[in-house]
Amino acid sequence: MANVRLRNIRKNYGKVEVIKGVDIDINDGEFVVFVGPSGCGKSTLLRMIAGLEDITDGTLEIDGTCVNDLEPSKRGIAMVFQSYAIFPHMTVRENVAFGLTIKKASKAEKEKKVAEAARILQMENLLDRRPSELSGGQRQRVAIGRAIVRDPKVFLFDEPLSNLDAALRMDMRMEIGKLHQDLGASMIYVTHDQVEAMTLADKIVVLKDGQVMQTGAPMELYHEPANLFVAGFLGAPSMNFMDVTVNAVNDTTVAVSNPSLDRIEVPHKGRPFTVGQTATLGVRPQYLQPAGDGAGKLHGKVILTERLGSETVIEVVLADGSKIIAALAEDSIQSPGTAANFDFDPNRAHIFPETR
Ligand SMILES: Nc1ncnc2c1ncn2[C@@H]1O[C@H](COP(=O)(O)OP(=O)(O)OP(=O)(O)O)[C@@H](O)[C@H]1O
Ligand SMILES: [Mg+2]
Repeated sequence: MANVRLRNIRKNYGKVEVIKGVDIDINDGEFVVFVGPSGCGKSTLLRMIAGLEDITDGTLEIDGTCVNDLEPSKRGIAMVFQSYAIFPHMTVRENVAFGLTIKKASKAEKEKKVAEAARILQMENLLDRRPSELSGGQRQRVAIGRAIVRDPKVFLFDEPLSNLDAALRMDMRMEIGKLHQDLGASMIYVTHDQVEAMTLADKIVVLKDGQVMQTGAPMELYHEPANLFVAGFLGAPSMNFMDVTVNAVNDTTVAVSNPSLDRIEVPHKGRPFTVGQTATLGVRPQYLQPAGDGAGKLHGKVILTERLGSETVIEVVLADGSKIIAALAEDSIQSPGTAANFDFDPNRAHIFPETR
């Protein structure tokens, strides 16, 4: 176990700055997930922590010691990549033991550690096979096994499951969660998958353009997004956004409305608003409840109804031509063109001063 501290970390490739002053704390034994759009710098950050990439500026500390210039093998870190990067000519046993072989570990130590990793990952029966005789999920397990035998203080995972099909991903996701429980090691995990982020993380770091947008526990980010970007990034289907006019501002709320939305008061959480400005209102599709004819706060017309089994998704067009989505629990069919009225709790809505 170890803590990792990033302070004002920057990375330039030539004149291009791709990481723009990042502060992140990974505490002892914590599972931290990095999410963000493609190209925002997730892999670059992991590679800098691993020592595979120079740090242009800032400080990287592991357990209180600056490791900016420490070589990768001395950092106590093991990294697992999306492409499994295992050796095709070696058996599973040899692949898993690889790091120990390089370190010239004794035969007994190798056997003990490989057996332990195989037990944790439930691949005792695969040890004599070669990678070509394994499924994708099994190959990824070998790569994780190779990381485990090194006894790292910190595990880094860069989209380890993105090459796997949906069912296998779910199995492996649970295995990684269990691995974290069993080993208690600090883990940093990059993913594009919302479910992986929400279920595995103690803490999620949302990145955009080389900067941290928000850091917090999964449900904290889900319920209290700090800005429009985080609000739209986490949650599926994504949060609905509507342009609204600010009608009044008081100590704790702003009153807003638009041609499709009756005036409501939404907590502004200290964000600055001025009367008359256009702002963005966010409401999650799950928080819209159908209301009867002429009832409800939000009024539009049904475009499409999709029944997904567990929920029904209704696409609705508003007076200004923008579209929103309602995810309803019940099996409610509404034909295209009919009026759609919804209610929602304004305390579960979000208001942001910026526009999209
Ligand atoms: N060796 C390099 N030289 C120049 N630019 C680079 C280099 N490696 C990465 N970049 C740039 O740095 C930025 C961050 O890349 P990075 O690979 O960290 O993104 P990412 O968040 O991991 O994206 P993805 O989700 O697609 O894997 C990108 O704009 C990328 O083009
Ligand atoms: Mg990447």
